[in-house]
Amino acid sequence: MAEPMTAAPADALPPFLAACRRRPAAHTPIWIMRQAGRYLPEYRALRARHDFLTLVRTPELAVEVTLQPVRRFPLDAAILFSDILTPLDGLGLGLEFHPAPTFAHPVRTPAAVDALALPPPEENAGHVFETVRGLRAALPRHAPLIGFAGAPFTLFCYLVEGRGSKSFTVAKSFLFAEPEAADRLLGKLAAQTAAYLAAQAEAGAQALMLFDSWAGLLGPDDYRRFARPAVESVLDALRATGVPLLYFPNQGATLLDQLPGLALDVVGVDWRLPLSRARALLGPELAVQGNLDPAALAAPPEELLRLADRVLAEAGHAPGHIFNLGHGIEPTAEPDQVARLVDHVHVHGSGGAR
Ligand code: CP3
Repeated sequence: MAEPMTAAPADALPPFLAACRRRPAAHTPIWIMRQAGRYLPEYRALRARHDFLTLVRTPELAVEVTLQPVRRFPLDAAILFSDILTPLDGLGLGLEFHPAPTFAHPVRTPAAVDALALPPPEENAGHVFETVRGLRAALPRHAPLIGFAGAPFTLFCYLVEGRGSKSFTVAKSFLFAEPEAADRLLGKLAAQTAAYLAAQAEAGAQALMLFDSWAGLLGPDDYRRFARPAVESVLDALRATGVPLLYFPNQGATLLDQLPGLALDVVGVDWRLPLSRARALLGPELAVQGNLDPAALAAPPEELLRLADRVLAEAGHAPGHIFNLGHGIEPTAEPDQVARLVDHVHVHGSGGAR
């Protein structure tokens, strides 16, 4: 099979949007989590002149960084250059990136939860919507723009812990010690996230993705009790936008059976669970996204392509597979390997069309 077989009519949905809707696509679409970033020399060159928050806060620079990977590789989607913590920037919480995020003033008591004011996103994140408008003017039609935000529980983890962690013990203890205050904080974060994503769609984002990077820290009962209701309220509020909704519960294999029934189109799957098993847990009404182990990019080229073939085989020939890594690309990845992977998926993925 040398070339994708179906020539797409000019008015066909771009492959990424077709796959989100579980329709056949001319080829399997691929994009890469963290596709704009430190593995690209052109990103490092800009980063040498501006700190990360300046890149995010300056629409002209954020547009440029978003476009860098799309110029270099024939990717099937672009993702807004920003961070999941951007909507919590400029609120006096002391957010800094080194490069991981830290809050000088974490929220750790019921009183701090009640005092936390999350203003309408236009007030502290207006630059994001300007970036989205700039991107829609600049992007080619074949690369739709994904807007994104952190899911409420993952934002809760950073905001309560105050910094990254492997276990988020402070944040999880707060859930169990102060469940009602935790619910109030998750509710505030859900309302703000819904408004922030709706404004991205309004500005032109063609799909919206929620990153729940730390969902896998919760067992199924605690996920159902604390994290899922907050995700559900965000998704319910976003249905009216009409754009596809994607959700990535990292390390979420044991949580996937709770996702059917949410107002979702696509579930991102990390590399620990084969996609055939994810599809069986999610049922026929959800598309899947993923899930090559990011470490595969460090393998010799033939091995990388063999591992990519395994992901394609696991996804099967039904429509509704978006190829991606099972988590963000590592800063040490070689751009040549990414180019190889993108070409391989385009030629060998069926797009669910045969
Ligand atoms: O290309 C893209 O994917 C868009 C940009 C993007 C960034 N962060 C830029 C970034 C996206 C989608 C994110 C999401 C994000 N941020 C997540 C969810 C995805 C995941 O990895 O689970 C999380 C948990 C964060 C929080 C965060 N931001 C961390 C843990 C770090 C430090 C670790 C790292 O990967 O660098 C950041 C900083 C960050 N966000 C950088 C970039 C390009 C590096 C900043 C720099 O250049 O110094």
